[in-house]
Parts: sequence; structure tokens; C-alpha cells
Amino acid sequence: MSLSNRNKKYRILVTGGTGYIGSHTAVELLNCGYDVVIADNLANSRPEVINAIHKITGKKTSFIKADLCNTGAVKKIFDGKRIDAVIHFAAFKAVGESVEQPLKYYRNNLLSLLNILELGMKAGLDKIVFSSSCSVYGEPDQLPVNESAPLKKPESPYGNTKQVSEQILADTAAALGLRVISLRYFNPVGAHPSALIGEYPLASPSNLVPVITQTAIGKRKSFTVFGNDYDTSDGSCIRDYIHVVDLAKAHVAALRRLFSPGNSRCEVFNLGTGKGHSVFEIINTFEKISGKKLPYKIGKRRPGDVVKVYADTRLANKKLKWYARHTLEEMLVSAWKWEQALAKNKIS
Ligand code: NAD
Ligand code: WQD
Repeated sequence: MSLSNRNKKYRILVTGGTGYIGSHTAVELLNCGYDVVIADNLANSRPEVINAIHKITGKKTSFIKADLCNTGAVKKIFDGKRIDAVIHFAAFKAVGESVEQPLKYYRNNLLSLLNILELGMKAGLDKIVFSSSCSVYGEPDQLPVNESAPLKKPESPYGNTKQVSEQILADTAAALGLRVISLRYFNPVGAHPSALIGEYPLASPSNLVPVITQTAIGKRKSFTVFGNDYDTSDGSCIRDYIHVVDLAKAHVAALRRLFSPGNSRCEVFNLGTGKGHSVFEIINTFEKISGKKLPYKIGKRRPGDVVKVYADTRLANKKLKWYARHTLEEMLVSAWKWEQALAKNKIS
């Protein structure tokens, strides 16, 4: 995966690169010899992440603090230096908040993408990797769900921004020759094994794994399991949890494919492990790896939750030559180590 056999180092713009998945991807890119330029407005991340990336890799990234909804700021990014490809992570991602504040989500997630495309392509950009989501499938008719499954009516404005963004990218690829890979992430969890980067949002997280680790460390008294009466083996919902480091490596694989000639202009890949785990399995596995008993209660179903979703990953395995390697235990061990590191450094 090294670029050492190439004359030129590719320079990759990582938008949202101080965020959770972006920071792990920046590490993998640097480890593989790419030059990395991070652009982020720190709306949901912290500047210390840049130092942590340097510490892990021993390599420097450029960091530009910029709001990608601001056309002047985006123009400056592309005027500044040659950019060979963009990985576009920057977006707001809280599903519940998007229901309450739809315009905030449509503005941020769509305008930032439009600016990157319009101003980037003016400056010669012709390759982009986009962060999409399994939320585009809704409740799938068949499991595991593959990339040809019909997209369902989005449950939230957030989910809709992902569907609309994929469509904007497909139309741009067809009309203007942009090369696009959209990656549909299933449920990213865990942290870098160094425990120097991990999920570190400014807002209180509502996803299952950070809720569990925060409860175990004592930041929360208890948590709620949203429903135990679903038609599944133990009554709780099934998801495909994937280690964030595996996910990050898939972006390097996607870039490699974009830089190789002869592939379709616009492609979509699922990124998951292909295995479904229930909420109770996550709880039991966490209790086993941490030795902690989790206080929780059973609550009502959460509106908008799908019952079961897990990925058919064969397309990504074959075309990206990428496989998720980490087990559920490893995901939860790394998430727990990260939560403990945050507590040790007194970061809330
Ligand atoms: P994150 O919030 O940790 O990272 C997103 C980053 O984008 C943040 O650092 C934020 O400050 C930045 N950002 C947001 N709007 C911006 C703007 N206008 N200009 C500049 N920077 C901006 O989120 P994440 O979990 O790392 O998610 C990354 C991407 O993956 C998002 O597009 C998200 O929708 C998508 N995704 C995430 C998940 C998940 O569960 N984490 C699942 C599927 C898809
Ligand atoms: C997982 C399971 C909950 C919290 C979301 C987005 C999706 C994607 C990934 C961005 C569900 C249950 C959770 C809690 C619980 N993000 N749960 N108690 O909902 O699968 O996906 O993140 O694209 O678009 O919707 O992830 O971690 O919130 O929930 O019982 O306190 O855990 O009901 O079954 P979800 P999650």
C-alpha cells in the first residue's frame, strides 16, 4: 500500500479530518505515504487531534480551519496547493438533531459538498471519496443488504442529505467526468489502539458504544436499551458494528482504486463486517472485556430505528481488496481504552 514506488506523493484533502472517522483516516493515509491536508471548522472536533495524529504517525499534516459552507474559504483551500483527491467527511451527523433542525443539516451537509465540487473542479479536482451511510437502506427487504438494494424513504433529514449527496455525486460524475466512490458505513465504533484518537465529539454522544463506555466510566448513571420486543433472537435491534481503523483503511483502498485507470466513474461500496450483533450482545461482550457490570433499563423503542441491518461486503472485498479484520471484542476493548484515556486526561 506504500506509495514509495511512485515519483509523486499524492496530496489528499481530508475535510472533517479532525473528526472521528476523518482523524483515523488521516493516520492511515500518512502511514501509507500520502500528503494530507485537513480542513475542518472544529464544529464537532478539537484542534488537539492534529497533534495526536502527528504523535501516532511521526508525520505532519497541514491543517486549515475553514467552514466549507463559506465559498471564499473553500476557494482559498484549492488555490493554495495542488489537491489530487478529496475525502469528504465534513458533515453534521446527529440523526435526532436533524429532525429538530432540518435546515441546519440541509445547509451544512449539502452546501459544503456543493462548494467542494464546484470550486474544487474549477481548480482541477477530478476524484472524490464520500462518506455515506447505511441509513440510505432504511429497513432492508433482504439481508445482508447489498449495494443494489432499493434506497428507502429517509427516516430523517440527516439520512436524506446522504441520499441527495450520493445523487449529486452520481449526476456530477455522469455529466462532468468526476470520479466518485461513495462509501456506505454501517456502525463505526472503537478507537485507535494508541488511545490517542477516538470518538471525541463536542456534543454528548447518543450512539450505543459511547453511551456504554460513558456509563462504565461513571459519566452517566445508567442507560436505556431502546426496546426488547423486536422480532430478533433476543428482542433487541441488530447492527453491523465495524472498527473505525478498518473503516479508515477502506478509504485508502478507495483512493487506490480512484487512482487506478479503467474503473467506473461512480461507484458505491458497503463498509461493514457482514455480521449482525444485537444490543444485548454488545452489552454482554462489553461486560466481559471490561469486567464491569453495566447499569441499564429496558425502555421503549426509539422512533426511526430499523430492526435489523448488516452488510453484504463482497463488492468492497472484491473491488477494493479490503476486508474488515477486527473482532467485536477488539472494537470494544479499543473503545474502552479510549474512554479510560479521556478520563485519565480529565477530558469530558
Ligand atoms: P464527526 O462529527 O466526528 O466529524 C465530522 C467533522 O466535520 C467534524 O470534525 C466537524 O467539525 C466537521 N465539519 C462539519 N461541518 C463542517 C463544515 N461546514 N466545514 C468544515 N468542517 C465541518 O463525524 P464522524 O463520525 O467522523 O463522521 C464523518 C462522516 O461520516 C460524516 O459525513 C458522517 O455523516 C458520516 N457517517 C458517520 C457515521 C458514524 O456513525 N460516525 C456513520 C455513517 C456515516
Ligand atoms: C445502535 C443500536 C439503538 C443507544 C446511527 C445513525 C446511522 C449511522 C450510525 C451516521 C440501536 C440501540 C442506542 C442507546 C440503545 N450514522 N441503542 N440505547 O441508530 O444504528 O445508527 O449511527 O450515518 O445513520 O442512525 O446507531 O449506535 O445509535 O444505535 O439501545 O442509548 O443501539 O436502538 O438498536 P444507529 P446507534
